[in-house]
Formats: sequence, structure tokens, C-alpha cells
Amino acid sequence: MRILLTGSQGQVGWELARTLLPLGEVIALKRAQADLSNLDELRLTIRAIKPDVIVNAAAYTAVDKAESEPELAFLINAEAPRLLAEEAAICGALLIHYSTDYVFDGSKTGAYLEGDKPNPLNIYGQSKLAGEQAIQASNADYLILRTTWVYAARGHNFVKSILRLAAEREELNIVADQIGAPTWARLIAECTAHILKQSQQKRQQGGFVSGIYNLTSAGETSWHGFAQKIIELAGQQGAQQLKTQRINPIPTTAYPLPATRPVNSRLSCQRLQQHFQLVLPSWETTLQLCIDEILSGNC
Ligand SMILES: NC(=O)c1ccc[n+]([C@@H]2O[C@H](COP(=O)([O-])OP(=O)(O)OC[C@H]3O[C@@H](n4cnc5c(N)ncnc54)[C@H](OP(=O)(O)O)[C@@H]3O)[C@@H](O)[C@H]2O)c1
Repeated sequence: MRILLTGSQGQVGWELARTLLPLGEVIALKRAQADLSNLDELRLTIRAIKPDVIVNAAAYTAVDKAESEPELAFLINAEAPRLLAEEAAICGALLIHYSTDYVFDGSKTGAYLEGDKPNPLNIYGQSKLAGEQAIQASNADYLILRTTWVYAARGHNFVKSILRLAAEREELNIVADQIGAPTWARLIAECTAHILKQSQQKRQQGGFVSGIYNLTSAGETSWHGFAQKIIELAGQQGAQQLKTQRINPIPTTAYPLPATRPVNSRLSCQRLQQHFQLVLPSWETTLQLCIDEILSGNC
């Protein structure tokens, strides 16, 4: 099986470049080798590789910057996935793509189901929704995995930012009225490997159905609760230089950003767990593993 992976230097892409290896020949491409803003070259690259599976971990993920760069965000998050789906259909490949809770407006009381009506609040969410719709409209076999609040030992993310700030400041103010599930990039990659394997078997046997699945850690918290847990676990695991004494909960209105965020980012993962027989661990369990890795300096 030839697996073409885009965005191999991102949080999820970096993990995928490792976890997919036992499944076949992984052609892991970074931005310079597969630039999603250059559609003509991207098409030639796919045609030269002739993959059995395309895993698209590349995306325009700068949520606030997207407000001032909508064309680039739509090119990378909507037009490029459209092309990937068209090419997947031509060469008979399965397309695995990632999306986000930001396709929703957060006004639902409970966790979002895959079939709930999207209504993105910002350009990033609109561009990701347009990408989902382009893939759904194609003739490709596809899986769209929606996830939330991604972090990893590598890359730029909330965990790394909080550990850095905790070494500098005695007091932190963190938003407490947005609720979601912090999700470790490695969990996403490991689950993707299981999903990919099962899906390829079903495609060969004729029982595969394309669709959207939510994929996050179990449980929920606020950014404030997430920050508290990061500092608590780092302290328990012997992190030096933790200066932070107080983490104050603040409302979103006290931390204005260019892009509006949904207050409810909770996604129900029942469908994925039942369909692929996967058990999703709590966000605290995976956070501990990631902080272990960061503090051990292996990244
Ligand atoms: N991060 C989150 O909290 C979050 C939440 C929900 C859903 N998601 C979705 O999950 C997926 C993976 O996100 P992530 O957290 O791994 O993102 P990430 O760490 O920001 O990685 C994105 C990758 O895309 C690459 N990229 C950007 N523009 C590109 C282009 N024009 N051509 C090719 N590659 C390009 C980046 O390349 P460089 O390394 O060169 O910059 C980077 O390696 C995305 O679909 C994202 O929308 C993420």
C-alpha cells in the first residue's frame, strides 16, 4: 500500500509519518514537496506517486491570521482538498482528511454529532467547512475526521505555551468559558492508522462507506482547566522553574482575538468508537504522556 502524506511537519503530520509506517510505503511530504497553495504542482505530484491512500494533514491553521488572509485559507483548506479528492477518485485512492469543531457555532447545549448543522463563526471554520463539502461532493472514497484543541510535544500549541509562560509568570489569566476536549496529535495519528487499515480491508471486500467522524479525547474541560492540569502535571513530574502561583479564570470577552471562537467545542465520538471499535482515552491520560515526553527532552 502506497500512502501519500501531506503536511508531514505539522503536529498531526509528524506523528502520522511514524505511526503509518507499519501499514505500507509512506511517502511523507513537507510543504516544500507538496505545497497545497500550488494546485498544478500538487496534481502532478499525486499523479507521479499514484497512491492507494492520501492522508491530508496539511492545513492553513492560523485561525486569527485567516481573518486577514481569507483567499489563502480557502485555497489551502478548501480548493486543495477538492483537488486531492478529485485525484483520489481518478486513481482509486482513499482520502483521509482532518477537520475541526470550528465548523460549528458552539450554540448547541450538548456535544455535537457528525450530522449537526454547521455554522462557522470565523474564516478558518468557513474554509474548513468548504473543504469538507468539496470532498463530500467528489466521487472519492473519503473519511473526514473532525478533531479539537490539538497539542503535541512538537510544534506550536497551548501546552507548550503554558509551560513557557509558567516558567516566566507568577499569575496567568486564562479563558474559562470555552469548553472542549484537548486532543494529543499522537492519539489522532494512532487512531488514523487503525481506521485506515480497517477501511482499506472494507474497500477490498466491498463494504466501505465514506463519511465524517468526530475524533477527540474523552472528557471535556475549559482552556482554564486545561492550563491548570498542564501546570499540575508538570509540577508532579518534576518540572523545574514553575513560577505560576495563580491561574485566574477569565471570560472570552476579556481576551479579544480577531477570530470569534465557539464556546462549545464538544464533539461526540460515539460513532467513531462503535464503527471502528476504538476506545478513546481521557484528555488527562494523554496529556500526562505528552508532558512526560516534553519534560524528558525527547522532542
Ligand atoms: N491545531 C488544532 O488545534 C486543530 C483543531 C482542530 C482541527 N485541526 C485540524 O487538524 C489537522 C492537523 O492540524 P495540526 O494541528 O497538525 O496543524 P499544524 O501543526 O499547524 O500543521 C499544519 C501543517 O500544514 C502545513 N501547511 C501549511 N500550509 C501549507 C501549504 N500551503 N502546503 C503544504 N503544507 C502546508 C504546515 O507546514 P509548515 O510546517 O511548513 O508550516 C504544517 O506542517 C488540520 O486539518 C487542522 O485543520 C487542528
